[in-house]
Amino acid sequence: MNTAQQGIFIEGTTAFTYLEYKLNFSGDQNKLKTALRNINELNDENISIIICFGKKVWDWIVPAWSPDSFADFKEVIGQTGYSMPSTQRDLFFWLNSDHKDNNFDVARAIHKEMKSIAILEIDQEGFRYHDSRDFTGFIDGTENPKDDDRPDIALVPEGKPGAGGSHVFTQKWIHDLESFHALSVKKQEKVIGRTKPDSIELEGDDMPEDSHVSRADAKVDGVAMKIYRRSTPFGNVSEHGLFFLAFACDPYRVQIQLERMTGATKDKIHDKLMEYSKPVTGSYWFAPSKEDLYDILN
Ligand code: HEM
Repeated sequence: MNTAQQGIFIEGTTAFTYLEYKLNFSGDQNKLKTALRNINELNDENISIIICFGKKVWDWIVPAWSPDSFADFKEVIGQTGYSMPSTQRDLFFWLNSDHKDNNFDVARAIHKEMKSIAILEIDQEGFRYHDSRDFTGFIDGTENPKDDDRPDIALVPEGKPGAGGSHVFTQKWIHDLESFHALSVKKQEKVIGRTKPDSIELEGDDMPEDSHVSRADAKVDGVAMKIYRRSTPFGNVSEHGLFFLAFACDPYRVQIQLERMTGATKDKIHDKLMEYSKPVTGSYWFAPSKEDLYDILN
C-alpha cells in the first residue's frame, strides 16, 4: 500500500509556507528531477515539504500515466457576477511546521534548487491565527474529516492510478475585513452558517441557502463531497486573507464546491462569503505518494 507524503496529515502546527513556481520547460528534465530529489531530502522531524505537480509538468516527466481526472484549473464563472480566476502554475511546495524560522531556511533552500529552472510566482507565509480561526474571526476546520476518515477523503484509493497520492487545490483569497466586520455578529454568522464564538452550525430556518456552509456542503447522488482542508490565514495590515488549501481523492469534489460558491449552478445562488472575500489565484495539483514520488524522481 502506497503512503501519503509526509506532513499532509500533520495537524496542530503553526507555521506554513506556500511556494508556487512556473517552470521553464525548455530545460533539462534531469535538472528538475535532481532539484526535487534534493528538496525532498529536506523533510525531517521538524518540517514537512509536500511536493505537488501541475498537469503540464506531470505529463512532461511522467508521460506513461496520470491520475484519473487530473487537469488544469479553469476559471469558474458564476451567473451572478462572481468568478474564480485560474493562475495554474507548475510546481507547488507546501511547508508545514511549527517553526517560522525553519520554514524560512527551507524555503530559501528550495528556491536555491529551483531558481535556475523556474520562476517563483507565489511566496506566501501563513500562520495559525488564535484557535485556528480565519481572519473573519470564525473557526475554520470544524467540519474537516478527523483521524481515520481523512485518508479515504484525501487520498486516491488503492487500485486507481496514483493510489496514496492526493489531488490538491490552492486558492489565495483577499478579504475585505472592514466590510465583513461592519456586519453585526448575527449577520456574519448568516454569511458563514455557523456561530462565531463556538462554531455551532445554524439549523432550519436560521441557515440561509447562500451561507458558506450551505454552498460548500455539497452532495452528489447522495454522496457527500467531503474534502480535507488545510487553509491558513496570511498577510499583513495592508493585504490579508485566506490561503485555501485542500486535499481530495477526486478533484471533482472541489470543483463542485467552487461551482456552488460562484453560483455556476442551476439555482444561480452564490456564496454570500464571496461578497466579502475575493479569490485571486487558483491551481489544481497532484501530490504523488512517497513511493510514486521516488519512482518519478529516480
Ligand atoms: C475566503 C475563503 C474561505 C473562508 C474564509 C472559509 C471559511 C470557512 C469556515 C469558517 C467554515 C466553517 C467551519 C468549518 O467547518 O470549517 C468553512 C467550512 C467549509 N468550507 Fe470554507 N472557507 C473559504 C473558502 C472555501 C473554499 C474555496 C472551499 C471549497 C473549495 C471551502 C470549503 C468548505 C467546506 C467543505 C466546509 C465545510 C462545510 C460543511 O460540511 O459543514 N471553503 N469554511
